[in-house]
Amino acid sequence: PRPILLTRHGESRDNVRGRIGGDSFLSEAGELYSKKLANFVEKRLKAERAASIWTSTLQRTILTASPIAGFPKIQWRALDEINAGVCDGMTYEEIKKNMPEEYESRKKDKLRYRYPRGESYLDVIQRLEPVIIELERQRAPVVVISHQAVLRALYSYFADRPLKEIPHIEVPLHTIIEIQMGVTGVQEKRYKLMD
Ligand code: F6P
Repeated sequence: PRPILLTRHGESRDNVRGRIGGDSFLSEAGELYSKKLANFVEKRLKAERAASIWTSTLQRTILTASPIAGFPKIQWRALDEINAGVCDGMTYEEIKKNMPEEYESRKKDKLRYRYPRGESYLDVIQRLEPVIIELERQRAPVVVISHQAVLRALYSYFADRPLKEIPHIEVPLHTIIEIQMGVTGVQEKRYKLMD
């Protein structure tokens, strides 16, 4: 069986400031993670000549992949983070204070809530379909470096979790989720590379 490795980008400067969306660079901790991830991937996939690294089109995933040597890298727009529309760049506190109704409707139904001029989790799940088809077709291992909401959706597909859980699944930073699809079903391992 061939593994699929899922990971969020290293901590970004916006993560540190609590700002959602955006296209910021990595924090120092995030840069350290990119190096640790490269080490891990190069060891784990040493004999896997056909493996590839998939990122989103956002800087924080591209920078996280950059120290990884020896594998082709592919950028997918479909792996970009959920589009927060008019809330892009805000903190959750700012949304709560300035747009209390939006904040409340998202809290009530996080799966279906669509940011004004942005996306819902259901939208993200739908746009991931081509990525999932391509992941299923791959014979070689794939490392997917993406974002919290997108990885919740991807993970739940492989781990067969119910739709309503998706927006609440824990996908921590600086942790690799390894999924193995074998004849007996799906196996999962987690590697926490940093505290
Ligand atoms: O805070 C990091 C982040 O990736 C944001 O860019 C994104 O809006 C958010 O997480 C998605 O998580 P949630 O759906 O819980 O707000």
